Amino acid sequence: MIAQDMTQIGRTPAAPVRQASQLHLEAARFAHGEKVVLDALTLDLAVTRLAVVGRNGSGKSTLARLLAGLVAPQEGRVRINGTDVARDRKAALGEVGILFQNPDHQIIFPTVLEELAFGLAQQGRKKAAAEAAARAVLARFGKSHWEAAYINTLSHGQKHLVCLMAVTAMAPRLLILDEPFAGLDIPTRAQLSRYLSHYTGNLIHISHDPADLAGYDQALWLERGQIAALGARDRVIADYVARMTELGEADDIADLAG
Ligand SMILES: Nc1ncnc2c1ncn2[C@@H]1O[C@H](COP(=O)(O)OP(=O)(O)O)[C@@H](O)[C@H]1O
Ligand SMILES: [Mg+2]
Repeated sequence: MIAQDMTQIGRTPAAPVRQASQLHLEAARFAHGEKVVLDALTLDLAVTRLAVVGRNGSGKSTLARLLAGLVAPQEGRVRINGTDVARDRKAALGEVGILFQNPDHQIIFPTVLEELAFGLAQQGRKKAAAEAAARAVLARFGKSHWEAAYINTLSHGQKHLVCLMAVTAMAPRLLILDEPFAGLDIPTRAQLSRYLSHYTGNLIHISHDPADLAGYDQALWLERGQIAALGARDRVIADYVARMTELGEADDIADLAG
């Protein structure tokens, strides 16, 4: 029943069913001071379901933030469906949404209703209309009783769901998920996975665990801020796993165990 509701949430005029999102990165560079995280990243890609893999520190979260327009590249361009997502924030909110790995980094307001209504208001709705739309989303997820709940009293998995409801309420054509399963218990994971499999918008799913990425057609492997491979999911993931296994076998701990 919830999965069916999810389908309806994605099916709004702002999120046409499975029309690909066009990513356009042109020599995009992002550095923290001296530390260059993404260097001259160029990418032209139509995305419906894209998996992004890579080791810790390879730049996956930075790429997610660039694509969502939360940070601007220091050089180059990032566009989604022609929108400069860092500059044109209002247009960007309909094109792309992001679910952070850590809900505490995403949540701003004390109560569930305020959190959901905020994004909708940012898209240009008046306060009353934003709250009405937020209530409708809660009802579709069967969570109307959460409306006045203080988010800091919810569990980690419940906070995650609040963030997912908030981002899907805005019906972005492209939803970016940054390690969405990390730290979730098995039932919450299964629930979230079911929601996502019915999401009618496009998805970019970042994970370092290939087990999370069934059902994705393309994969991008990021290595030290560069594209190590991009193409059909099965091939890219197989190469990635082979490389990671090789690295794992080469480390000092493995040597000691032998
Ligand atoms: N605020 C920051 N200041 C300095 N370096 C950072 C900061 N945030 C991230 N980095 C560095 O950028 C690199 C890429 O980070 P990140 O995009 O989070 O990688 P991933 O998500 O793949 O683990 C890492 O080496 C990380 O240490
Ligand atoms: Mg990360």
